[in-house]
Amino acid sequence: MLNGSLSEAQEDDVANLLNLSATDDYKVITCHLKPENHKDCFADAQREKMKIIEKAILKFVPKEYVYCNTNRVIYIHKENRKDGKRDFRKKLEEFQKKIQDQLEEEKEKYDQIGIEKIKEGKLAVVTMAGGQGTRLGHNGPKGTFDIGLESHKSIFEILCDTLKAANQKYEVTIPWYIMTSKENNSATVNFFEEHKYFGYPKGYIQFFKQGELPMVGEDGKVLLDEEGMIKFASDGHGGVFSSMLRDGVIYDMKARKIKWVFIGAVDNVLVKMVDPTLIGLAEDRGVLVAGKSVVKAGPHEKVGVFCKKGGKPGVIEYSEISKEMVEERDANGELKYGESQLNCNLFALEALEKVSEEKLPYHSAHKKATYMDVNGEIIKGKEPNAYKFETFFFDAFGSLDDMAIMRVKREEEFAPVKNADGDDSPETARKLYQEFWKTK
Ligand code: UTP
Repeated sequence: MLNGSLSEAQEDDVANLLNLSATDDYKVITCHLKPENHKDCFADAQREKMKIIEKAILKFVPKEYVYCNTNRVIYIHKENRKDGKRDFRKKLEEFQKKIQDQLEEEKEKYDQIGIEKIKEGKLAVVTMAGGQGTRLGHNGPKGTFDIGLESHKSIFEILCDTLKAANQKYEVTIPWYIMTSKENNSATVNFFEEHKYFGYPKGYIQFFKQGELPMVGEDGKVLLDEEGMIKFASDGHGGVFSSMLRDGVIYDMKARKIKWVFIGAVDNVLVKMVDPTLIGLAEDRGVLVAGKSVVKAGPHEKVGVFCKKGGKPGVIEYSEISKEMVEERDANGELKYGESQLNCNLFALEALEKVSEEKLPYHSAHKKATYMDVNGEIIKGKEPNAYKFETFFFDAFGSLDDMAIMRVKREEEFAPVKNADGDDSPETARKLYQEFWKTK
């Protein structure tokens, strides 16, 4: 007899199909995966956990009694008549504990690998801080912005604190490379000088400048700047790779025998730059790049999402994804493109050497610009009136065949500062930051 929610006739059918004995008693035990954060959405990371659970169950139960799909494991437990109800509960609890231990072990295994690499001095950190921060509207590099904490620490100081704490924890000094732009380089360097590098050893901080690309007008012709020279604009965060090569950052990392490089954005005050689990995962999987994701808050959240492009790993920006794709769901009803990328990625140094030599595709952006027209007059755009070209760092993923993606908790690792108010503003970032540190 099957003890479950089926009718008697259905139970008999199932029992026959499974070759179960009519005289024995069975219990049907199911293990469901609960969608994280929002309705009906399971991610690869969760499905992987499901596989671990399946593996653990198979250690104790014959294979023919276990059935799995992406978010559920069912096993048929043959009851031993001698076991009372309490014995069965005890068995089940032991069983659950074993599964939990196995999941913990997996994380511990990654952590051990990662901690070793960090302690050996194999990790370097790059912060991309060359953006214009137009939406925030702050007069100066975004890293110098004060998000309104009681301490009035700037974003740069907040990031520096994170690195200093990691240095202390792992008894190393992690080299920190900061990418600036031509426009904000001296303001950034001066800020660090004025604040005495926030106590970080100066020899372990290096600035490097991203490149620029010419801007064109709406007629497609190259624009002139106010001095009559070709008008340039920053080449986007994808410029990080070629500028690391050009400015000797890759060379410096090689000299320091770095193996893994975390590249993150300046505008996330909860960015976890030193993460042994991510390093361990990448090492264990044998991949040259690993990234972090959070579950997309809804189909229309303005974030880039992980995807595959021509079978290779990639990210599609919110501004470039079609409405159909944004809303597309898979067979389980989950968003097909539901893993937001966080600008938190770990690259093997050998991968950086490779991609720094390659050309990334250009994406165009319609922007307000001030330029000199054919009559020598200065035109100040009040509305977008020109195009700039940008490269995106995540377009480099496609050259690396495969990558590992680790889903993390939004409230623990993602507090972006993008807009002056509303979503992803200093106010929301401050609250997330305070909330996170309250529990530490
Ligand atoms: P965003 O794409 O959010 O751009 O940058 P942004 O410049 O900060 O802000 P808006 O769009 O003008 O309002 C994501 C990360 O990439 C860096 C930024 O500094 C930020 O850390 N970035 C962006 C660069 O380093 N260089 C760039 O050319 C663009």
